[in-house]
Amino acid sequence: MAGSISAGDFEQLRKRQMEEQHRRQQEQVEKALSGVKRRIAVYSGKGGVGKSTVAINLAAALARRGSRVGLLDADIDCPNITKLLGIDATLGVVSTPEGPRIVPAERYGMKVVSMASLPGNDDDDPTIWRGPLVTSALMQFLGGVQWGALDYLFIDMPPGTSDVPLTLLQFTRLDGFIIVTSPQTVSELDARKSGRMVHKLQGKVLGVVENFSGEMFGTGAGERAARALSVPLLGKISLSRAVREWADRGEPATLRSPEAEREFIAVLESLEKQLR
Ligand SMILES: Nc1ncnc2c1ncn2[C@@H]1O[C@H](COP(=O)(O)OP(=O)(O)OP(=O)(O)O)[C@@H](O)[C@H]1O
Ligand SMILES: [Mg+2]
Repeated sequence: MAGSISAGDFEQLRKRQMEEQHRRQQEQVEKALSGVKRRIAVYSGKGGVGKSTVAINLAAALARRGSRVGLLDADIDCPNITKLLGIDATLGVVSTPEGPRIVPAERYGMKVVSMASLPGNDDDDPTIWRGPLVTSALMQFLGGVQWGALDYLFIDMPPGTSDVPLTLLQFTRLDGFIIVTSPQTVSELDARKSGRMVHKLQGKVLGVVENFSGEMFGTGAGERAARALSVPLLGKISLSRAVREWADRGEPATLRSPEAEREFIAVLESLEKQLR
């Protein structure tokens, strides 16, 4: 027999509905990523330390060695991946039994998905969205792309410790995060903070990469951040003209510069050890 609803009943109902919705979204993401063996996010709380550069070059180096690789630009507001890879095609769409799915662009043997590849996304027009819209766009990318079978999916994260990493950790099963730091102390502090956020949310930090390493900015922040997080230093990428110039031309330096390739391959070898 139906009785009148109490505030407690109402709260419980609301909670159950939210849990159910959360579970359904997790399932949707898992389904979309079911053909993806390794899922790795490249992250730092700090902007401009080389997250996109590291993600692109690791992905391109793996693709060159014959792996099937995807790259997801999770920077919804300021997506850079397409510029750094010289992609100007828009994303496709295909209908599947699960509904329409986004078809990635292809470049250097990789499948690439970015907000910048949506029609109407102009170079000069800023995307000014509040958190919920950013989260909803990210969920569309996580649960709505036709990746097919992949050996690796790299997720290039925006800076910050808010919506995007939180959403990713809540809805996706990941192998872990690579934390990028520059040699400067502020970057090291942000790297440690980012790593702790991942740990707090039960994610795994696979290791730290020190970028911009060398005479100009120094070195050592990578080791220190890795020690503080009890994870390995995966490697160091030197501040180099080749990395910058090839990026400006829309090509991954690892495909063009033997020195850059050596450094990125060394990071990959440490990463593979961590994934084993
Ligand atoms: N090792 C390097 N040597 C020279 N230039 C580099 C190196 N790493 C990155 N850069 C350059 O520095 C700039 C910032 O790098 P990148 O875009 O990868 O950083 P990011 O952390 O992804 O930035 P954001 O926080 O805006 O997403 C780019 O122009 C890139 O080409
Ligand atoms: Mg970036």
